[in-house]
Amino acid sequence: TEDIYILALESSCDETAASINKNGLEVLANVVSSQVDLHKKFGGVVPEIASRKHLELLLPVIDQALAEAGLKFEDLDAVAATYGPGLVGGLLVTLTAAKTISLALDIPLIGVNHIVGHIYANFIANPKIKKPLICLTISGGHSNLLYFENLRGYKILGKTIDDAAGEAFDKISRFLGLGYPGGPEIEKAALRGDPESIDFPRADLGNSYNFSFSGLKTAVMNYVNNEDQRGNRIDKNDLAASFQAAVVDSLVANLIKAVENYEVQSVVLSGGVAANQRLRKVISKKLKSFNLDFYYPPLELCTDNAAMIGAVAYYQYLEKDFAPLSLSADPSLKL
Ligand code: KG4
Ligand code: ZN
Repeated sequence: TEDIYILALESSCDETAASINKNGLEVLANVVSSQVDLHKKFGGVVPEIASRKHLELLLPVIDQALAEAGLKFEDLDAVAATYGPGLVGGLLVTLTAAKTISLALDIPLIGVNHIVGHIYANFIANPKIKKPLICLTISGGHSNLLYFENLRGYKILGKTIDDAAGEAFDKISRFLGLGYPGGPEIEKAALRGDPESIDFPRADLGNSYNFSFSGLKTAVMNYVNNEDQRGNRIDKNDLAASFQAAVVDSLVANLIKAVENYEVQSVVLSGGVAANQRLRKVISKKLKSFNLDFYYPPLELCTDNAAMIGAVAYYQYLEKDFAPLSLSADPSLKL
């Protein structure tokens, strides 16, 4: 059988990325150009600046990916791009580029869901993960708990009913003046604080596997405002540590419930929040009493990248799940 080479593109948020995947999980090049520093001073991603920057960075990033893989455009079997969810301006940059490449080279266009990409990042890092598995996929835009029977079939067990986990980190970080992106900043501050100093609520949504973080967000804000009014000094490190502990506990509670109720072989994490060390540690500890493998992608595959998009695209390629040139970007695309 012939090897399949796919060029994948990703620009749904603030990273401009291109990869070359060979037969799906083999990554020949994974180039990511981050704009994080550009957006830092605004305390979050400015969509208009992001799209302009994607436009500037995309062609050099594609050229670099091809060069690193030692391939030419003519060697490609298909071109893939994230078509949602994300910021529409950013999505349009790579989607338009992918359509152009598809048309010019007469190769199939593949539209990929960004959330599915985050999950597949695990399969790149560990192709032999045993299934069925439970996947907790948590990032700035989504939080989902999934059951995977096999690679191509999943069932959504639970999702957030308000803020995504990463969004909660970002909002609280901004509120405390700790900077952007919030997750790493909160995590840094939390290392110097006491996670048991403030008892923030852990949302309990009864029998469901759903998450909720907006009550916690309000509790943190109320706490700070009350202490301010009383003239008390607030220890941001203690606050960050207590907030992070509450988010982690809520995520872990649902994950463990799922592991107890579903017969699975592995647990995998994905999405930007999967980079959180406390989360990884608490899950590892809780899973000790279960006979399970536990995986999370390496940092460069946790955060936004194109290789994860190329991995999904390969399986869509095998199923001839191609997109027409009329495919539109869908900023609120669901799983
Ligand atoms: O997956 P990702 O890079 O982009 C999206 O698709 O959203 O996730 C970004 C999110 C941000 O909300 C960021 O604050 C969060 O992941 N994040 C973290 C950590 N690193 C990134 N959250 C908690 N702890 C971290 N170490
Ligand atoms: Zn992402």
